[in-house]
Amino acid sequence: MTSPSGHCLLLIIALGIFAFSRFSEAQMNSTLIFTKEHTIRNCSCPADIQDCDYSLANLVCSCKTVLPYSVEQTSYHGHLTIWFTDISALGLLLNFTLVWDLKLSLCSANTLPEEYLAIWGLKRLRISTEAKHRFPEQSLLIHGGDESESREKPRFRHKDWQTCMYVSFLDMALFNRESSLRSYSIENVISITNSFPYLAYFKTIPPASNKSYVVTFIY
Ligand SMILES: *[C@@H]1O[C@H](CO)[C@@H](O)[C@H](O)[C@H]1NC(C)=O
Ligand SMILES: *[C@@H]1O[C@H](CO)[C@@H](O)[C@H](O)[C@H]1NC(C)=O
Ligand SMILES: *[C@@H]1O[C@H](CO)[C@@H](O)[C@H](O)[C@H]1NC(C)=O
Ligand SMILES: *[C@@H]1O[C@H](CO)[C@@H](O)[C@H](O)[C@H]1NC(C)=O
Repeated sequence: MTSPSGHCLLLIIALGIFAFSRFSEAQMNSTLIFTKEHTIRNCSCPADIQDCDYSLANLVCSCKTVLPYSVEQTSYHGHLTIWFTDISALGLLLNFTLVWDLKLSLCSANTLPEEYLAIWGLKRLRISTEAKHRFPEQSLLIHGGDESESREKPRFRHKDWQTCMYVSFLDMALFNRESSLRSYSIENVISITNSFPYLAYFKTIPPASNKSYVVTFIY
């Protein structure tokens, strides 16, 4: 027979479990995209998965296969993690997309070419390379994520392409280097093609009509 205080305790435990499960449901899953043997998987993960652990990701996350020709330019407002092995798939997934908080993990010992990747609106970048154990993970804060900015989320919709002022150029060869992650930003850039002739191949970036760009190089 249970005493009244025993009932009370059971009730508290039950309420606790209920509250915890509601809390877990409400938590945002993060997006993990990985490429392996010409397959692209797009996953929604409830927890951080150890870098490059493909089988764990398939087990824990809810994943869909993405056909390379169906990849569209998109935007990611939460954390995005990408595990990649070569730059062709990475370019397809990430070149000219809008991502605020990005983690890139190179899951191979490949040497990457000196090629640039353009990312809109990047605030925080983390990188890791499977082959390098000396620097397991590096992190860079590009633009302070202050409160007022995060409240303006709707400003950064895909349709308002022209209002996206922050553009980062990521030198893919940084994954080959032992040195730590560095960046420099240049403000008030009106035309990217005029200011950086050696980036002339980024002709797809329209000149800002009203506003200027803040251009960040990450190397
Ligand atoms: C991955 O899935 C998210 C939604 O879970 C979607 O917004 C995004 O566009 C997808 N990315 C690709 C490359 O399919
Ligand atoms: C989070 O992911 C799990 C599977 O990993 C899924 O069951 C759940 O619906 C997802 N939650 C949200 C809010 O997307
Ligand atoms: C990104 O796009 C530009 C312009 O199309 C291209 O020159 C560059 O090589 C691409 N970067 C990657 C990593 O695919
Ligand atoms: C320029 O900016 C002003 C306000 O800052 C806005 O009212 C106007 O519509 C903008 N013009 C264009 C062409 O974007």
